[in-house]
Formats: sequence, C-alpha cells, structure tokens
Amino acid sequence: MNIPNHVAIIMDGNGRWAKERGLKRSEGHKEGAKALEKLAIHAKELGIKVLSVFAFSTDNFKRSKEEVDYLMNLFVTYFNEKLNKVIDNNVKIVFSGRKENLRKDVLEAMDNVTKRTKDNTDCILNICFNYDGQQEIVDASLRVSKDLKDGKLKEVDLNKEKFYQYLYQDLPPIDLLIRTGKEHRLSSFMLYQSTYAELYFVDTYFPDFLEKDLEDAIDYYNTIDRRFGNVKTD
Ligand code: FPP
Repeated sequence: MNIPNHVAIIMDGNGRWAKERGLKRSEGHKEGAKALEKLAIHAKELGIKVLSVFAFSTDNFKRSKEEVDYLMNLFVTYFNEKLNKVIDNNVKIVFSGRKENLRKDVLEAMDNVTKRTKDNTDCILNICFNYDGQQEIVDASLRVSKDLKDGKLKEVDLNKEKFYQYLYQDLPPIDLLIRTGKEHRLSSFMLYQSTYAELYFVDTYFPDFLEKDLEDAIDYYNTIDRRFGNVKTD
C-alpha cells in the first residue's frame, strides 16, 4: 500500500454529532479532541510523515463567546497535558496560523508543546490554529517582499517550491485531504499546499472518524492514478 506523505483533515461535524445525541456542542468538541489523539498516533504508526488538522479557523472567532472560551480551554488542556500519548509516540507538534487575538495562556501552551516536541522525528502534527489559508498566502507574500527588499532573496530564486519556505510552516505538499461531516468545501484550508491533493469527503462526523476510517481514506487514495497534469503512459 502506498502511504501518503502528508495527510490533512478538516475536522468538521463536532456540533452536529453532539446535537444528534441531545448533547451540548462542547461535548462534540471534547469527543473530537479524543478522536484527534487516536488519529495522530495511528497516522504515525501507518508511516504518515505529516498530519495537518484544522483545529480553529480565524472565522471561528465569530462563534458565541461561550463556545470560543470552551474551545480555548480545551486546547490549553490538550497542549499542556492531554497530548502526552501523542508526544510519547515521537510526534513533533507545530502550529500554523496567526498569534494575534489569542489568549496568553493559549500562547503559552502552544509554546510549551512546541518546545517539548521540537526534537521528535517520526511524524509532524501541524495544528492549524487561528488559521486562514488565504491570509497565509498574503502573509507569505509580505515576507517575500521584505526579503527581496532586504536583499535576502533574489527575484530569480523565487519559484513555487521556494514559496513554501515563506508559509507558516515549511511542509511538503498535501497528498490526501480529508473533510469529515458532509460538506464539500475547503473553507480556506491550506490552499497553497493542497494544489494537487486528492480530495476525500466523508459524511461521518469527526468524533466518529476513527483509525479504520483513516485507513479507508488511504485505500481510496491508493485507487487513484496521480498524474500531476501529465498523461498516462502504458
Ligand atoms: C468543527 O466542528 C470543529 C471545530 C471548529 C473545532 C475542531 C476542534 C477539535 C476537533 C478539538 C480538538 C483539537 C485539538 C487540537 C485538541 P463544528 O463545530 O463546526 O461542527 P458543526 O459543523 O457540526 O457545527
């Protein structure tokens, strides 16, 4: 089986998962966090080198204060203590997104988990947090422009590959992009990196998306003939 190098997941459907069970939305997020923990470990076991997940979009700040506060508290708990099993699996945790508008305790927890895992080598868990993919491209362009002005970059050296170095994290392109929870859209998630990603949409709400479902997505990936714009030669 061909294991994709970089898998990305838009973890959608936590709220609907809870609603269908007569529970509060927060219960859905709590279960979603547990699902992510299991998936990150399984991704590493399968040999996936990078797992990117959409944990909190910049637009998610439009939600009720109660929900945003709940999510931030959940993230602090996870980054500070609950990801220990993931960390013990030699997974390095990095973040993509803007730091502005984030609470001090959230920033500290992010910093803490980044430092604790910086030397881990088996797999990277890239957590997109206060993230917007269009904004990432704009921010990268500003950094490019600064380096050009400061003489650190020459125009002739800038190309599609080089541009990756100016994104929030310098990661390989996404091979397989999964979205759970019935919707079929990208919601401004890792637009630059998903240019040639295979897209896999699944109705399952994220808290129910478990190890076997990740394997099903990889099975689907293996059925595809990836030509990158070329033609088939046989
Ligand atoms: C989308 O479901 C999910 C989110 C906005 C948050 C994702 C967060 C987690 C899975 C928690 C764990 C993350 C970490 C990093 C510990 P939704 O609320 O949009 O669901 P809905 O579309 O059914 O309302």
